[in-house]
Amino acid sequence: MNSNYTHLGKKEWGKLIQLFKSPEDEDSRATLVQHMGQILFGLQDFLKKNVGVTEEISLLKISKSFQDTVVNEKPENRMAEVITDIIEEIAPQAVNVSSPYFVGHMTSAIPFFMIHLKSIVAALNQNVVKLETSKVVSLIERQVIAKIHRILYDQSESFYKEHVQSITTTLGVFTEGGTAANMTALWVARNTMLKPRNNFEGVEEQGLLEAYKEYNIERSVILVSKRGHYSLRKIGGILGIGSKNVISVDVDSKHRIDLNHLNSTIAELQKKNIGIIAVVGIAGATETGSIDPLKELSSICKKNDIHFHVDAAWGGPTILSSKYRNLLDGIELADSVTIDCHKQFYMPMSCGMVHFKNPDHMKVVEYHAKYIIRPGSVDLGIKSFAGSREANSLILDSSLKILGKDGYSMLIDHGIELAKDFAKEINKRDDFQLITAPVLNILTYRYCPVKIQQKLKKADHDSLKNINEVLNEINISLQRLQREAGNSFVSRTEFCDLRFKDVKNVVLRTVLMNPLTNIEILNNILDEQKNLVKESDELIELYNKLDL
Ligand SMILES: Cc1ncc(COP(=O)(O)O)c(C=O)c1O
Repeated sequence: MNSNYTHLGKKEWGKLIQLFKSPEDEDSRATLVQHMGQILFGLQDFLKKNVGVTEEISLLKISKSFQDTVVNEKPENRMAEVITDIIEEIAPQAVNVSSPYFVGHMTSAIPFFMIHLKSIVAALNQNVVKLETSKVVSLIERQVIAKIHRILYDQSESFYKEHVQSITTTLGVFTEGGTAANMTALWVARNTMLKPRNNFEGVEEQGLLEAYKEYNIERSVILVSKRGHYSLRKIGGILGIGSKNVISVDVDSKHRIDLNHLNSTIAELQKKNIGIIAVVGIAGATETGSIDPLKELSSICKKNDIHFHVDAAWGGPTILSSKYRNLLDGIELADSVTIDCHKQFYMPMSCGMVHFKNPDHMKVVEYHAKYIIRPGSVDLGIKSFAGSREANSLILDSSLKILGKDGYSMLIDHGIELAKDFAKEINKRDDFQLITAPVLNILTYRYCPVKIQQKLKKADHDSLKNINEVLNEINISLQRLQREAGNSFVSRTEFCDLRFKDVKNVVLRTVLMNPLTNIEILNNILDEQKNLVKESDELIELYNKLDL
């Protein structure tokens, strides 16, 4: 009947509807069952067998296969063939982030049941922007946000009873990731600082120019240490204050925010009549895993009436570890907290969340429309920066039930203790230098023979700079050659030298969150690096420049 609407006729319409509902035929079904069976019930083996550790073919070469920009009128392939193509042609060129040898980034292995949960979420296809497309799932989101809020802020039973499903208040919201969570927190902070007063309707309504006039300020800023994630600069741009007004505060030798520098920066800004939207404390810096002194930051913010946001995108779930939760002491004093679920909650891409201590705080970002998110409704879209979004809360809620706090605690403890053991191994070896000892499960080191380490201790500025330039070249090549070899992966970043700030140190970075990674694997990674320096022509040439 409906085929009347298409010029292609009844037969094509029939095929389309068949495909909408199920595989084309038994062959197709069998292929699909085989692939999906492997993915759903043998995830680690499937990834090991089918997905490359890193790209073994140059990106330039691969990109030649992806030049065609025309979408065909007719189906190119049967569904089962398209899926087989992903598994046989695409997956081998993707990165096996779940390999225990892949220890360079914050993206890693996830428990197999996450794939099941993700499939169920896709199957239900709820849209939590509004109750009409999600019903109970919106209530689950509120409940799981309250559960995490309770772990973070530990308010009274009656507080959670009042707010868990309250229509007027909000304890937090799920987001696409850490960037969107930080964005939401700082959006709320900006609107709170530049709120309506007198005839001024607020920055959200009237924009920054009018807000600055009303509040008699020249500009507004966000303060974060030099280890702040780059997303914060982007947010400065999006909020209209300008990315340059996300100001970097110095760090101490352990990469924690320098409180003296913070205090003097605040005093200077206040003298110049510059608005301070927020101070961001980091709980698990992206490059070092370091944690800012959260209690002290909270006192400074309280004293100066500044919004205190904690970016715990990485370190947040440490609060589930009975052994290490004290590392986050002071997080409960934050006005808002970001946590990424696709990091140490081990959820699939992509999911983050932001929590607000004050259940009324998010009212400054409330929006309504006539057809949904009407005033007085439960629609989560009223206070969410995203519009349509998936029911990620179902995954987190289920995972918390499946693993419990204890399960997450064991994962967190494993990473932190493995990092401590790895640091010991690095210290034992003559060819490597530990640069940042782990607080959480991230550490940095570099290839630097012990003789050179001794030389560097006594070196003046110029010779330190010269030696470092060679070391930097070695570590850049080493990281690249190891990645290209395709057996293992560490990442790299760059810090200022502790003695001479204009000298840059390139360092290798490991993030240890995969429970299948162990100290033998990490030793193999160091051995591989040591051998590469001895065996690769490129590195031999650089090594000789060290003049040992
Ligand atoms: C501390 C921190 N904040 C924010 C982010 C941004 O998170 P996302 O990439 O999920 O947007 C990251 C990502 O690595 C991070 O480490």
